[in-house]
Amino acid sequence: MRSNYCGNLNKKLVNNYVILYGWVDKIRDHGGILFIDLRDMYGIIQIVIDSKKIDLKTFLIAKKIKYEFILKVIGLIKLRPLNKQKNILTNLIEIFIIDLKILNQSKNLPFKISEKNIKEELRFKYRYIDLRRKNIINKLIMRSKINYKIRKFLNFNKFIEIETPILSNITIEGARTFFIKSHKFLNKFFALPQSPQIYKQILMFSGLDRYYQIAKCFRDEDLRSDRQPEFTQIDIETSFIKQKDIMYIIEKMIKYLFKEILKVDLPNEFKKIEYKKALKDYGTDKPDLRIPLKITDIDKLISKNNKFNIFKKNIKQRIAVIKLKDGVKLSIKQINNYINFVKLYGLKGLVWIKFYNIKLGFKGLKSPISKYIEYDLIKKIINKLNIKNGDIIFCCSDIKNIVNNSLSALIIKLAKDFNLYKKKWAPIWVINFPLFKRSSSGNFTSYHHPFTSPKSTLEELIYNPENTIAKSFDLIINGIELGGGSIRINNEKIQKLIFKILGLSYEQINKNFGFFLEAFKYGVPPHGGLALGLDRLVMLLTESKNIRDVIAFPKNKNFVCPLTGAPS
Ligand code: AMO
Repeated sequence: MRSNYCGNLNKKLVNNYVILYGWVDKIRDHGGILFIDLRDMYGIIQIVIDSKKIDLKTFLIAKKIKYEFILKVIGLIKLRPLNKQKNILTNLIEIFIIDLKILNQSKNLPFKISEKNIKEELRFKYRYIDLRRKNIINKLIMRSKINYKIRKFLNFNKFIEIETPILSNITIEGARTFFIKSHKFLNKFFALPQSPQIYKQILMFSGLDRYYQIAKCFRDEDLRSDRQPEFTQIDIETSFIKQKDIMYIIEKMIKYLFKEILKVDLPNEFKKIEYKKALKDYGTDKPDLRIPLKITDIDKLISKNNKFNIFKKNIKQRIAVIKLKDGVKLSIKQINNYINFVKLYGLKGLVWIKFYNIKLGFKGLKSPISKYIEYDLIKKIINKLNIKNGDIIFCCSDIKNIVNNSLSALIIKLAKDFNLYKKKWAPIWVINFPLFKRSSSGNFTSYHHPFTSPKSTLEELIYNPENTIAKSFDLIINGIELGGGSIRINNEKIQKLIFKILGLSYEQINKNFGFFLEAFKYGVPPHGGLALGLDRLVMLLTESKNIRDVIAFPKNKNFVCPLTGAPS
């Protein structure tokens, strides 16, 4: 095992001899003396190969060194001259070589290690070179440290780590499933788990009270900046526990990780918001509470005899407004960009009003709709939104989903464009989700998964599934869904009923979940749990913009691995 690395030598070691291994990062050839930057995973150190200090044979070998060759060097650590020292620890010292060996050679690289803005396709094709870069190495080191801290916290709290199968059967978690063939079976497939959901519940049935696993999960779904087809969850389940207790232990773990990794104190108790309120105020169930912008409904302000089309009331519609302080400075071009931006989310129109001087009535404002709108309505909007001189408002009206999707995206865009963030970290629990949502074909699907316990009685579930609230909870940090969990069903009748509401036939229920329902007959404790996306957590803790940055071998945007060529 190596005891010294290029990146962890320091001034205290001056006048000691070291053996180092590394890749050649830079070469400066001054004839009789060579300066080489030697690089390993921890950093870079300058080595000095002076023809006067080593034998000729070794010096001639050194002259053959090229970029990315791998060297073994033995040398004396010395202080660098003061005028050459830079602000990096290993820049204070350099190694005077007494012996060296070229351990291996390298072709010219497809890109320089220090180069920025290299195309991702190229980086991923040569991932082994890409992974020589310090910023990526650091993220993987951080990921390993986070894993260690998670295990430390959970073990300390008496959770036990149990592995569950990868070759498994279908679970329903809302995404498509990957299927795996074996030579043993002609017409049968294993399914890759979308999560260990069923297995972890079964562990509770057995009395293995506090389970956790850093689990690989597989979902055949479209990729995004925070989604990969294979990803990792910190999967947790406990029995004889209430929702608030699960939330408490998770909060404690997240606070512990932020403190240990970033030295950040998150709020003592995370805020909670009802699902309905999140949609009303932010248009999304993943609100980013660093941003002080909210959506305000104005349909109640609009009189019956209003003539302006966009403000015509309709039960399915939402008429809503966002206010941006100091927004009068936006140019028409900037505003048009926002109008085009919300079109991507289906919104046909976005009207705006700039308020220069509220006291002057119509004369004090500017808007393409000033001719069509009554001042009475404007006055009501000014009062409701507490509008001040200098503000701009964006108004729209459409079916709820479109307004929600568009305005929630607009809030994020405005925050990015004008750096509106009021704090660095905003963790929040979203609670009281509906148990079901309607798919595009009108069928019920689970909001989370079919094992989530309803809050209501059996009768309510039968007669009013649409309005049933779930005992579920999502953890959102800075607008990213970090985790989701719930109290589970532990009653066979309710579990069967849920499968039926979801449209599963008797045969499908029996085939896929017969074993599970059978287990309900043998004493199932009340239980619940949650899973956190580990990749997303690492993204947050390393302030990465993309999930691919925190995974050693990610799939690219097109779902393939450019390194190995998989799938093939
Ligand atoms: P859920 O489906 O909400 O819950 O997933 C939990 C968390 O896993 C992360 N996640 C992903 N991360 C990267 N790429 C993906 N494709 C991906 N999909 C999900 C998210 C998400 O919040 N079994 C339940 C948990 C439970 O009820 O205990 C489950 O999997 O951060």
